[in-house]
Amino acid sequence: MKAQPTGRAEGDSAAIPPALGIRPEIAVRAIPADERIWVPQADDVWFRPLLLNTVTGGWCNLLRVRRSGVLSRHRHPMIVVGYVIRGRWKYLEHDWIADEGSFVFEPPGEVHTLTVPADCAEMITFFNIAGAMIYVDDDDRQIGYEDVFTKIAMCRAHYRDVGLGSDYVDQFIR
Ligand SMILES: [Fe+2]
Repeated sequence: MKAQPTGRAEGDSAAIPPALGIRPEIAVRAIPADERIWVPQADDVWFRPLLLNTVTGGWCNLLRVRRSGVLSRHRHPMIVVGYVIRGRWKYLEHDWIADEGSFVFEPPGEVHTLTVPADCAEMITFFNIAGAMIYVDDDDRQIGYEDVFTKIAMCRAHYRDVGLGSDYVDQFIR
């Protein structure tokens, strides 16, 4: 016998009302035409915010590294997934190389240092990062962290400084 979760007769269909308080969707060109949208992160490293998720904590962005930029050694307490759009990179801690079209899953607890080979002029990767990034030294002692709120603060300061206005980041915050 078929289950009837709503108690309605088979064949009936109940209207599902629009959700109250739903936040607007986001649909943007991921690689921006305006260079100012890239937020500097470190030497030769930038991120482009796409979704700053303050509800469950996390963010989606593009990471761009030029020349031999390095993203400092860090630990992920929660899941990360990524998709390489352009170029290639590797983690010092692993043998594999992520190149254009690669999908990457990083398990909670993963510690790594992202580097781009010297012969790769530019890499761009989409990352969906849950929770936080905890920066650590070579002895795995914490030296810094990032979460959705520090990312928002970085964006605000940068967009203010480049003339887009500090509230430019608001369109990416949910
Ligand atoms: Fe990472």
